[in-house]
Amino acid sequence: KPVKTVPLHEDTILVAHRGASYHAPENTLGAFQRGIELNADYLECDVQLTKDGHVVIMHDKRIDRTTNFYGMVKDLTLEELKKVDAGLMFSTDYIGEEILTLEELLIALNPGAGIMIEIKYPDLYPDIEEKVVNIIKDYQDKHKIIVQSFDFDVIKKVKKLLPDVETGVIVSKRKLNTTEIADLANYVNVINYNVNYLSKDIVEAAHNNDIMVTAWSIKKQKHFNKAMELGVDGIVTNFPDWIIK
Ligand code: G3P
Ligand code: CA
Repeated sequence: KPVKTVPLHEDTILVAHRGASYHAPENTLGAFQRGIELNADYLECDVQLTKDGHVVIMHDKRIDRTTNFYGMVKDLTLEELKKVDAGLMFSTDYIGEEILTLEELLIALNPGAGIMIEIKYPDLYPDIEEKVVNIIKDYQDKHKIIVQSFDFDVIKKVKKLLPDVETGVIVSKRKLNTTEIADLANYVNVINYNVNYLSKDIVEAAHNNDIMVTAWSIKKQKHFNKAMELGVDGIVTNFPDWIIK
C-alpha cells in the first residue's frame, strides 16, 4: 500500500505552484527558492522533453509566453533552450533565469526539500516516464518527491517503474466516483483536485482509501475556506505567504 506523506505544516501540506509563481517567474530557480523562503513544503514543477531527450521544466508546450524566444519545447535542443531567458518576461529583476533541467533542480535544492513533479503532455513524449524515473531514483534519499499527472496511466506506469516513489493524479472538471477512488489506492498517494470540483464525498472516499487530497490552485479566500472546510491535506497555490497568513 502506498505510504502516506508526512506533512510539515501540522496537518496541511503547502505546495508552491510552479514555485512561488506570483512572486517570481514560474518554474525557474528564482520561483523555487522563493517558495522555500515562504515556507512551502513542496515545490510544484512541470516537466517535458527537449528535442534531444532531456527532462526540462516548463509548463506550456511552447516557450513563447514565459521566455524571450519561441517554439515548441519538443522541437528545441537543451543547448538551444539554455540560451533563452526565462525571467525577463516576468520582470527585469529576474533577467538571467534559465530553463532548468529536472536534474539541475534536484541538485540545487537543499536536502529534504519537497518536489511535486508534474509530467506534462505525455502524448507528445512517449518515453517520458522512464526518463523522469531514471533521474529521480538517485534523489529519493535526498528529497521528498511526488510524481503527478492528469493522465492516470502515466502514473500507473511510474509506480510500476519505481514502486517506492509517491504519486499523484490531478483531476479537473469531473467527479471521481468511489470505485475509481478505490482503484486509485493501488498506485496513488495523492489526488490533486481542482478546488471548484472538489466535494465532501470525494475527500471522504479518498481518506477511506488512505489517499491524501490536495486542492489546486487556491487563489481566492472562498477557495481556501472551501478546501479547509472539506478537510483537505494540502493546498496548491501561487502565493504560499498568503496561505500562511
Ligand atoms: O498542481 C496542479 C496544477 O499544476 C495543474 O495545472 O496547468 O498549472 O499544470 P497546471
Ligand atoms: Ca502543474
